[in-house]
Amino acid sequence: MKIQRFSKIGFILAAAGSAVGLGNIWKFPYMTGEYGGGAFVAVYLITIAFIGFAVMIAEMLIGALGRADTVTSFERVAPKKKEWWRFAGFMGFNGIIIMTFYSVVIGWIFYYLFLVFGGLPQSTQEAKGIFNDLVANQVLIQIFFHTVAVILVGYIVYRGIKGGIEKINLILMPALMIILFGLLLYAFSLEGFSKALKFMFEPRWEDLNSEAFIRAIGHSFFTLSLGMGAIMTYAASLPKDASIPKTAFIVTFMDTLIALVAGLVIFSFLFEFGAQPSQGPGLVFISLPTILNNFGTLGTVFAFLFFLALAFAGITSAISLVEPVVQYLIDRFKFTRAKAVIVISLVYWIVGIGAILSYSNAWGKIFSIGGKPLFDILEYTTDSILLPLGGFLIAVFVGYVLQKERAYKYVGKEMGRRAFLIWRFSIRYIAPLALIFMMLNLMGIIKI
Ligand code: PFF
Repeated sequence: MKIQRFSKIGFILAAAGSAVGLGNIWKFPYMTGEYGGGAFVAVYLITIAFIGFAVMIAEMLIGALGRADTVTSFERVAPKKKEWWRFAGFMGFNGIIIMTFYSVVIGWIFYYLFLVFGGLPQSTQEAKGIFNDLVANQVLIQIFFHTVAVILVGYIVYRGIKGGIEKINLILMPALMIILFGLLLYAFSLEGFSKALKFMFEPRWEDLNSEAFIRAIGHSFFTLSLGMGAIMTYAASLPKDASIPKTAFIVTFMDTLIALVAGLVIFSFLFEFGAQPSQGPGLVFISLPTILNNFGTLGTVFAFLFFLALAFAGITSAISLVEPVVQYLIDRFKFTRAKAVIVISLVYWIVGIGAILSYSNAWGKIFSIGGKPLFDILEYTTDSILLPLGGFLIAVFVGYVLQKERAYKYVGKEMGRRAFLIWRFSIRYIAPLALIFMMLNLMGIIKI
């Protein structure tokens, strides 16, 4: 069981690469738009500061102490009754379930990278038509681009921590930041910018319904890649002298910053031309290209750069979704890396095709359960049940099972006593309660 180690910067960029994904650039803006702006952003930021950041430290801690795949790390780190905790390690499998639809969305982005060159849509009607036609009728095109995503991600994971994951993050993460900050600079010059600022940072509390509140908490977990062992698996390769609290802070900060920048860019463009922010998941596929059409050729360049940034963000997150299970198969079942990647990729490739078919006109009924398309079921299960459950287990494990002195030695000394106590309080009380509350709420068992 030989674990390779990241370099310091390699680890930061890989963990940030995992966190910064479609969740930041695609999901965060459309959710902010749907749930009314400032108040949603405020809940999201508060959850990140008080819960997400604490769980990020906890997840890194288990990985850095266990130095193995998720299952083995839990076993190793548990002081006694090790076998009890083996099941918690299975959270790595959530990644494969997420990948079934994540890879389909990356496929859509690849398709749009080509599409923008054929000219941007003239009207929202036309843009809607293109997106809906893709999803409802163009099954083969979607399968093709989904397959490209699966092969690309598989190849990077196959190259391993140093030769694949670290290398690709060292290139794509800075590229993504340059593109987004470049677009932000341009957005500054638009009149829509001040409206975007106001929309995102002036909370109108009366807009915050209970659903928005719960979704903001859930999203803060998804966006930080918490609750499924991605950060834990990367932390197993943490360089020896890296500081967990500092690294967790940088990753959390970068992830939040990029979501806010992406939101500001998109809303500045939208408000510049008086478009509505509340358009749901189609926001970046429908509204944005239409709006950018108003900028002429420059608009095509912006659209291309935007989808390129989105593709980069998606790929660096996708590899972190696949790596935990691959590492698990290597450690526990002595698979070669190549065999593990092929088996896992095949599984989510096939289920992903089911997800594609579930949105299609021709096959939708067959690939739906109780009237819900498979795509939505997969997304809902991970977002609402599996990730919060994983986060809950991590918090309880580090808060109650891991010896306090051990935690103090690895993270407390650096943070200082007071910060350590606050962190531990969050891990023991705030995070588990918030997560349980959220899960029960989403499952409809309690309602606020
Ligand atoms: N954090 C990623 C995003 O915001 O798109 C998604 C994700 C990646 C979730 C890895 C969970 C994970 F383990």
